[in-house]
Formats: sequence, C-alpha cells, structure tokens
Amino acid sequence: MRPQIVAGNWKMNNDLHEGRKLTQSIKELQGDIPADVTVILAPPFIHLAEISREIMDTPLKLSAQNCATEEKGAFTGEVSASMIRSTGAQYVIIGHSERRSYYNETDDVIYKKIQLALKNDLYPIVCCGESLSQRENEQYFPVVEDQLEKTVFKLSSEDFGRVILAYEPVWAIGTGKTATPEQAQEMHGFIRQKIQENFSRDAGENTAILYGGSCKPSNAAELFAQPDIDGGLIGGASLKSKDFIEISKSFSK
Ligand code: 13P
Repeated sequence: MRPQIVAGNWKMNNDLHEGRKLTQSIKELQGDIPADVTVILAPPFIHLAEISREIMDTPLKLSAQNCATEEKGAFTGEVSASMIRSTGAQYVIIGHSERRSYYNETDDVIYKKIQLALKNDLYPIVCCGESLSQRENEQYFPVVEDQLEKTVFKLSSEDFGRVILAYEPVWAIGTGKTATPEQAQEMHGFIRQKIQENFSRDAGENTAILYGGSCKPSNAAELFAQPDIDGGLIGGASLKSKDFIEISKSFSK
C-alpha cells in the first residue's frame, strides 16, 4: 500500500518565534491524525534545526523547501542538501513552480538538486504542473510528461523509489481555485501510468503522488478519496494548525 502523506509548505512565512508556535500547536493536535498518515512540516531553512528539536519525540517529519545545486564551497547564500540532512530533516521540496518561475529553475537545475538530495539521504518531493495557459490550450499532459522526463524519469529505478511526486497546477496555487477532484485524478492517473511505462508496474503502484493547489479542509477529503491521489502539498492552509490537522485527517482509504 502507498504511503499517505500531507506536507505543509510554509513558503516564506513565519519568523522563528511564529514558526515555533505553529509547530507547538500542530504538536498538540497531532494525536488526532491516524498513525498511517505521514505529516511533514516544510518551514524556511532558518527554522529547520529548531523545529527538528521541537518535533523530536513526535511522528512529525521535517522538510526543506529547496536545496543548492552544488555539494559545498563558495556559493554565498546557498544551503546544501547535506546541511539540510544534518538538521534532522529527511525531505526536501524540489522544483516548486515558484522556484521555476521566480528563480528561473530549469529541469536541468531540478535534476541536479534531486540527485544531490538522494546522495545525501533526503527524500525529494518533486513538483510538476502546468500553467493556466497550458491548461486552457489543453497542453497539460505533454507539459507534465516533459517535466518528468527531464527530471525524475532520468533516475535509476532504485533512486526513483525514494521520490515523492507532487502535482501542483500553477493556476490553482494560492488562487483559491482548486483543481476539481476529476481534473486532479485525471492527471494523477496519467502520471502513474507514465511511471509504469518508464519503470515498472510496481514503481507505479508504490509512488506517492500528492496534490497541491488551494487544498483546504473543505476539499481535502474529496481530493484524497481519488484512487491516485495519495495526499497533499499544502501552502496557505498549512499556516493554520487546525486547518492543517483537519486536512491530515481527510483520508478515507
Ligand atoms: P496553496 O495551498 O497556498 O495554494 O499552495 C500550494 C503550494 O504551492 C504548496 O506547495
């Protein structure tokens, strides 16, 4: 059975004090989450070490939102995958559409980061998704397939086994406009089929594919009930502990 995962991407929100308070509040409520759901917090880099200590005795997991393309050295302002791992974080989000569009991250850059994450014992949460115009022009399947082919489909099947995918249609991120469960399922089913074609039936069966884009307590259950949706990558709603916990309790399968 595939893992069920909810990851909260805080993006560039919460100073350290606020981040600690949010974590404490999530900790207090996390007893309500079924044991088979993996809940991951992805705060800004600067919070990782502190929040790692905060969640040490809980089932909560920790992720970074990005990592450097290089292992180490003279790259002012960058944070390497090994530094992230040394905080206790086990995951890293790679290829988020905000990084692709605001920081010009190409698929080549994303592929390099995925490789470094894997080398440093991190699970990469790799994002893909089409823009509004690509959706309207009905190019969403080839766009997402291309993103996967230039990144995770270049990995060995062993390495691919450690990858978590997140489908985040750009037009649904932070817009309040969620993909319908049918639209999301259609894409998740497509991605799973492509994984099977590129790797194996087992790889397709075992890979977790998360949905992201205006996911909230009121729509999470319907999305997570879809056969190929294995959880969510949550932005805005992950900043409110009650909403985030509600979403984490929204699995029915
Ligand atoms: P929102 O949930 O705020 O739409 O953000 C989704 C997202 O980008 C998560 O990575």
